[in-house]
Amino acid sequence: MEGDGVARIPRHVAIVMDGNGRWAQQRNLPRHAGHKAGVKSVRTSVEESVRHGIEVLTLFAFSSENWKRPAGEVSLLMDLFMVALQREVKRLKRNNVRLRIIGDRSAFSDKLQQRIAAAEAETADNDGLVLQIAANYGGRWDIVQAVRRLATRVASGELTAERISEAAISSELSFSDLPDPDLFIRTGGEQRISNFMLWQSAYTELYFTDAYWPDFDARAYTAALDFFAARQRRFGTLGEQLPTTNPNPSDPTD
Ligand code: IPE
Ligand code: IPE
Ligand code: MG
Repeated sequence: MEGDGVARIPRHVAIVMDGNGRWAQQRNLPRHAGHKAGVKSVRTSVEESVRHGIEVLTLFAFSSENWKRPAGEVSLLMDLFMVALQREVKRLKRNNVRLRIIGDRSAFSDKLQQRIAAAEAETADNDGLVLQIAANYGGRWDIVQAVRRLATRVASGELTAERISEAAISSELSFSDLPDPDLFIRTGGEQRISNFMLWQSAYTELYFTDAYWPDFDARAYTAALDFFAARQRRFGTLGEQLPTTNPNPSDPTD
């Protein structure tokens, strides 16, 4: 709560869930034990997002570059994804959460693709938090697939090159119907984007914490939200031009 009495809650929180492997290594456990332990933090972040009235939570689960890891780890991550999808759907329904997977799902096994589609369908009518799991997602991939679609429309004569605008590109990206992330959180101590949402993060507030993902609990999440609440988002304007009643304007000219 700030002086103007408005709670500054982000509409969209995006998290790079990093540090599972190091969490496990620290305990002399195999890396996959860290991935398993991370599922609890997924639950916590979903529940806390619901509690705080956040509209969209996007979790980076597997990047387009994570295929470069040893085959054994990739396959364990796929198994875990499969099991978690199956197990968590009931809980998501109970919390009125709508699940969505973003990324290139064509690279997944048929079985996993079916499970993804089923989990999305089972939660499609929920109108609470939107939970996006970024799986085989890359910010560059997202831009490439958007540009490809625009190029197809230009080739068919439906669109001209001159009419390609920021809005046109935005509209072809993965979650064009949702607000851009307001708050980016990365656990695990690294301070980089690692090809997460590149286009959509143009004005996102960045928060980095040393906590490994399995240790990221409700308190740690609240600390990130407190950090966000204290930021002044200027969107290129001068601070004094901003209205005091609307602390997080999606359009600064509002
Ligand atoms: C994040 O944890 C999970 C994935 C990338 C799938 P890591 O597996 O990257 O854990 P660290 O960074 O090696 O500790
Ligand atoms: C980013 O973590 C991707 C996910 C959390 C899914 P990485 O562990 O893959 O990132 P780098 O390799 O350290 O940049
Ligand atoms: Mg990592």
